[in-house]
Amino acid sequence: MANVLILGAHGHIAQLAEKQLLRETDHHLTLFLRNAKRLTVSDPTRETVIDGDATNQKEVAAALTGVDVVYANLGGKNIEAQAKSVVAAMDQVGVKRLIWISTLGIYDEVPGAFGQWNHQMLDGGYLETYAAAAKVIEHSDLAYTIIRPAWLSDKAVVSYETTEKGQPFKGTEVSRRSIADLVVKLINHPSEAVGHSLGVNQPNTDGAKPSFY
Ligand SMILES: NC(=O)c1ccc[n+]([C@@H]2O[C@H](COP(=O)([O-])OP(=O)(O)OC[C@H]3O[C@@H](n4cnc5c(N)ncnc54)[C@H](OP(=O)(O)O)[C@@H]3O)[C@@H](O)[C@H]2O)c1
Repeated sequence: MANVLILGAHGHIAQLAEKQLLRETDHHLTLFLRNAKRLTVSDPTRETVIDGDATNQKEVAAALTGVDVVYANLGGKNIEAQAKSVVAAMDQVGVKRLIWISTLGIYDEVPGAFGQWNHQMLDGGYLETYAAAAKVIEHSDLAYTIIRPAWLSDKAVVSYETTEKGQPFKGTEVSRRSIADLVVKLINHPSEAVGHSLGVNQPNTDGAKPSFY
């Protein structure tokens, strides 16, 4: 049994991971989110809800007591500030293991026509801030795994492969369920993929755009 802190617990992928963790493991989940009354707790013996903002180092640090693994499912224009706050809070409390959801394209690793389309869609604020946040994580001394999903769908499928930092990104899309599945695997096997930044895509989805565009 591990104590897992989920930051951004109301996020789409986070909610899928939470359900899977409750179904398949006996981990205790601390669910950290803004406006916490939005979240429905299904098992009060295994879920603790904390209202907080990831940019607030004090609030994140307070949520970290006794935590083994942090899964950050955050987003938004101030993602770099969130990364700084999470790293500082983890350093402060001495928690090491971090799973950080980022995005494809932060290393300009997406090749070909899809890479160009991805730039067109995501340049101008998004890719730059997500890249800066990933740098904060990579420059920390945490035992991190960065996950770079392809374009996300809500398809009811779990099918994915990964690429490493330094390799060209594969495919165009992946389901949120697949990312949740990878997160659950890493929580269950926390020594895997430490220090790695994984591109994640559904196999055989190469093309100039995701199928739903
Ligand atoms: N859409 C795509 O195709 C795609 C592809 C690759 C990666 N991504 C990225 O993957 C990540 C996860 O995806 P998702 O679908 O699960 O996203 P999501 O539903 O937007 O979840 C992100 C969560 O972050 C929370 N958050 C933002 N700022 C916060 C703060 N200061 N304190 C606490 N919580 C905060 C949001 O909370 P609130 O509900 O309070 O706003 C939201 O619940 C996102 O960053 C997304 O941009 C997306």
